[in-house]
Amino acid sequence: MNKRKIQIFSSIDYLANNLSELIIKGVNELPNGNYFTIALSGGSTPKIIFEYIAKNIGNKINWKKIKIFWSDERCVPPDNNESNYKMVYDSLLKYITIPNENIFRIFGEAEPEKEAKRYSVIIKENVPLKNDIPQFDLVLLGLGEDGHTVSIFPNQISTFYSDEFCIVTINPYSNQNRITVSGKIINNAKRAIFLVTGANKSSIVNRILGNKKNENILPAELVSLSKGELIWMLDTASAQLLDSQIQNTGIIR
Ligand code: 6PG
Repeated sequence: MNKRKIQIFSSIDYLANNLSELIIKGVNELPNGNYFTIALSGGSTPKIIFEYIAKNIGNKINWKKIKIFWSDERCVPPDNNESNYKMVYDSLLKYITIPNENIFRIFGEAEPEKEAKRYSVIIKENVPLKNDIPQFDLVLLGLGEDGHTVSIFPNQISTFYSDEFCIVTINPYSNQNRITVSGKIINNAKRAIFLVTGANKSSIVNRILGNKKNENILPAELVSLSKGELIWMLDTASAQLLDSQIQNTGIIR
């Protein structure tokens, strides 16, 4: 039975702190010799959260016990400002002590189909399997205003159900190639967390989490962990349209 939790924070700092506590707890509970495997999402929301963690949490997290992957990447070189790797490097990696061999970058500069195949092998070889599918300890997810998540867009929603672990999609707004994990990976995770902040996300949050039935399903609505825990970490701005009952049960601080 999949569990879904909604947590609402009065500031991004509180949200980032709560996320850090989850990661620290996960690392501390690791059996000896194991690693905490995390897939990071792209976009501007995680950037603010990673900057907070770098500045305030830093090496309170034992990064040597963590293997960092990406849930998606834009098909650009790693020094391009569009790169999700560059965003994570500039906001977090350059401030923490983590062995290079613990960082598994998607090669945005490579030929997309070849890279999607390569990265599927990388995660299969470096993330423990559950039911023959890599099972991340934690997958971080963003949410687009159109309901996309990772790089699975509404007009390519069938790619969520790909048999592949990693696939190539196209951002319909920029025609940019993307490499993204599929729903097979997301829904097999031990825990997935949507990180959603800002008033501009309030209507899509209400559409997905509110109790309204909608005509066409969106990629973010397909995230439903078979055995894991799904948490929506929102700030008050992105949660503002949710009905008061959800708001009251969700408030963390
Ligand atoms: C990306 C992510 C995308 C992102 C959402 C939210 O690479 O941009 O795949 O899913 O997480 O679009 O982005 P913002 O946090 O910038 O709104």
